[in-house]
Amino acid sequence: MDTIFVQGGTPLAGSVRVGGSKNSALGILAGSLLADGVVTLRNVPRIGDIHTMVELLNGLGAATRFIDPTSLEIDPSRVHCLEAPYELVRKMRASFNVLGPLLARFGFARVPVPGGCDIGARPVNFHLEGLRKMGAHIHVEHGVYTAEARKLDGARIYLDFQSAGSTQHLMTAAALAAGTTIIENCAAEPEVVDLANFLNSMGASVEGAGTNQITIQGVERLHGAEFSIIPDRLEAGTFAIAAAITKGDILITGAVEDHMRPVLNKLDEAGVTVESLPQGLRVAASGRARAVDIKTMPHPGFPTDMQQPFAAILAGAAGTSIITENVYESRFRYVNELNRMGANLRVEGRNCVITGVDRLTGAPVTGTDLRAGAALICAGMAAEGETEITGVEHIDRGYDNIVGKLQGLGASISRGE
Ligand code: EPU
Repeated sequence: MDTIFVQGGTPLAGSVRVGGSKNSALGILAGSLLADGVVTLRNVPRIGDIHTMVELLNGLGAATRFIDPTSLEIDPSRVHCLEAPYELVRKMRASFNVLGPLLARFGFARVPVPGGCDIGARPVNFHLEGLRKMGAHIHVEHGVYTAEARKLDGARIYLDFQSAGSTQHLMTAAALAAGTTIIENCAAEPEVVDLANFLNSMGASVEGAGTNQITIQGVERLHGAEFSIIPDRLEAGTFAIAAAITKGDILITGAVEDHMRPVLNKLDEAGVTVESLPQGLRVAASGRARAVDIKTMPHPGFPTDMQQPFAAILAGAAGTSIITENVYESRFRYVNELNRMGANLRVEGRNCVITGVDRLTGAPVTGTDLRAGAALICAGMAAEGETEITGVEHIDRGYDNIVGKLQGLGASISRGE
């Protein structure tokens, strides 16, 4: 098992380029199953979760190949297997989202019940209820959902929570349904907008993405297309936090400021300089950060994925901060690990009270999920001495070469056994 070793104390400097969005690419890869021609995707991140999704598409019979390091060609015309294997759905929840496209295109799909994970229960009831409203018959037996529908019909669907995954999933299913689908109280994440743009580039009719109501006019067929995936706002946010926590001064190129407003706004409130330049986003900090309160919300609220790395800044900030996690019931597993480094975080239900300390010290720690790993890397770069981070496989799921990119910014970080 790999370990990341971080020696704290070096302010980051220089510039770093952001890769394509993981969460957008995952939805788009699943959506590519709807096409009856070749789909060419640009700006695809080279990360573990994408490899898992590509493996799944291949298993279903699609032909995929990387034509350059970040361009992926997918030919879904020969899909013949309509069953997703358990090992892949267990490994990555987003693989559940092939159910709708398979059902819409072939009238049948079998996908295992996805598990929970280290950030909460994560049920799929919104996905299932939406598909049922569209006329799908779905039952579960021996841990596998079997879904059938001669033809999906448009429907009016109201989501109890603005769930990103179910909004993306239902949009793809509705793209080939007969008639109009309206998804109310849906997610407005940039990744949802990107998926809508992708579907429209294949000939779909999706309107309203980026608001809390999306209307999809079903079409008979979707053709192949070429499409470039948006930059990853969460990777960009992680670099911004890394710059702030090391009191560095960096330029993040390729980041879309508009997608990052909630995080940049909190950085500003904490006393970090954020400047939009023609070349990219400059993030710089000199003094100690100020304590700030954060409430996670669906977009355009503060993203749950960023509360973990942000907590690393607040751990050393002047004053007491409160993070309220409104999206997942248990996304605080990293707290014990930060406390091993001398931080003072206390969880009370959905709140985490962070009393800023004067210094963090390096320690052996474990990242229990992707963003927890990112939080520990950030904390390690601010701590005195060496931090050894295990659980690197989680980090590899969502960050392309984070060690190399941080080295490029001058961080004293390496990876080994
Ligand atoms: N929910 C339900 N029922 C459902 C679906 C969701 O109760 O059928 C609940 C969830 O349990 C959660 C809330 O609704 O409490 C929001 O879940 P959402 O569906 O928005 O999350 P997701 O689509 O499963 C995506 C990202 C996550 C990110 C969340 C929130 C992908 C592949 N994953 O998950 O990304 O945290 O949206 O923005 O798009 C990450 O990148 O580290 C990550 C976990």
